[in-house]
Parts: sequence; C-alpha cells; structure tokens
Amino acid sequence: MPKRSGTPADDPFAGRHPTSHERNSGLPWDASYHHGPAPWDIGRPQPALVRLASEGEFAAAVLDVGCGTGENALHVASLGFSVLGVDVAETALAIAREKAAERRIQVEFVAGDAFQQIPKVPGTFDFVFLDAWKKDYKRFFDMVYPRLDKHGLFLAHNVVNKRSEMGDFLDAIQKQPSVWTTIVSPSGEGMSVTLKR
Ligand SMILES: C[S@@+](CC[C@H](N)C(=O)[O-])C[C@H]1O[C@@H](n2cnc3c(N)ncnc32)[C@H](O)[C@@H]1O
Repeated sequence: MPKRSGTPADDPFAGRHPTSHERNSGLPWDASYHHGPAPWDIGRPQPALVRLASEGEFAAAVLDVGCGTGENALHVASLGFSVLGVDVAETALAIAREKAAERRIQVEFVAGDAFQQIPKVPGTFDFVFLDAWKKDYKRFFDMVYPRLDKHGLFLAHNVVNKRSEMGDFLDAIQKQPSVWTTIVSPSGEGMSVTLKR
C-alpha cells in the first residue's frame, strides 16, 4: 500500500516545528549527521575556544548553542565548568552523549530548537558559544544577552567567512555601547568575542 503523505513517517521533523533554516531548506539539521561527520565537524574543539578556556576566561555557567557532536562543550566541561549544550539534531546529540560517557565528562545536552529550549532553562550564563544557523545569530544574541552576566562573554563562530549572512548581528555586537567586541581569525573563519560591560 502506498504511504499517505502527511503521515508522521513522511515528516522529516517528527512533529516538531522546523527551525528557520530547516523551513528554508526543507531538510532537518539531523540529516547532516546521517552519513559520517558533518562538513563542519572538525572532531576537536575550536582552537580559539581552547585558548580562551586555558587562560581562565570562563567562570561558572557555559552555554553552547548548536553544540553538534559536542567537542567544544566537552572540552570546556573537562576543565571543570558547568556546560549546557543545545542542538536540534538528535543524531549529533546522541554522538555527543556517547563521547561524554566514554570520556566520563559531565555535560547537560538538550535536544531541540534552541529558541524554544533555552527559555526553559533557569539562570544566567557567564559564557556563551554560538555556532548555529548564521542568519539567526542576531535573534540568538537578543535572546541570550539579557541572561548574560555582567562581564560575561559571548563568542560567535564564522563571523569572517559568513559575515554576509549576519550583518545585523555584527552591527549589534560592534555598535551597541553596552558591549565590547573583538574579532579573532586564526583560521579565516573568524570568532567574535563580545564582553558585556
Ligand atoms: C555549523 S553546525 C556546528 C556544530 C558544532 N558546533 C560543531 O562545531 O561541530 C550548526 C549546528 O547548529 C544546530 N542548529 C541550527 N539551528 C539550531 C537551532 N535553532 N536550535 C538548535 N540547534 C540548531 C545544527 O543542528 C548544527 O548541529
């Protein structure tokens, strides 16, 4: 018997609302993780993040938005920080949880659209790392900024090679007087580092 369209089996989003990128592309983020590592998955934490962490720039509560298979979250947690990783791709999170178990590192991983999941988590953050859909960066920043502690840091990945997709975000972090931003680009992808004054 042919499958009826509109059944749950036909729904690549398994009943949840697609994220903005998923709506545009028609594909779930999860599909990127189905056939081996996703193109952006470098299998180790981002060097700029490692360096900041080693310099003691983090404090207590760390949020990793678009954590993927968890290399950044796991690295920071291994240094003793409390880390929450959020990603909408279940396959990526399953890999992240396996790595955490293998390495015996404690990280809280939450599956779902970060725009819906983060408001459900109580408290504030000292450090936020953003590496999700680039066109959503300004919306992510607006959502998280009120919950970033004073002198907290907000890092965003790909601000050089994907800058054309995030003009509104770059304007906000570079012009808003309540923050101070610098951009580092050891690899050409570029990472913004924004301090809440
Ligand atoms: C470019 S990948 C980066 C993954 C990871 N940070 C890494 O370095 O491998 C972007 C990730 O953001 C996730 N993502 C995109 N939009 C999201 C959203 N609205 N909520 C949660 N995760 C999202 C995707 O599933 C994907 O894993």
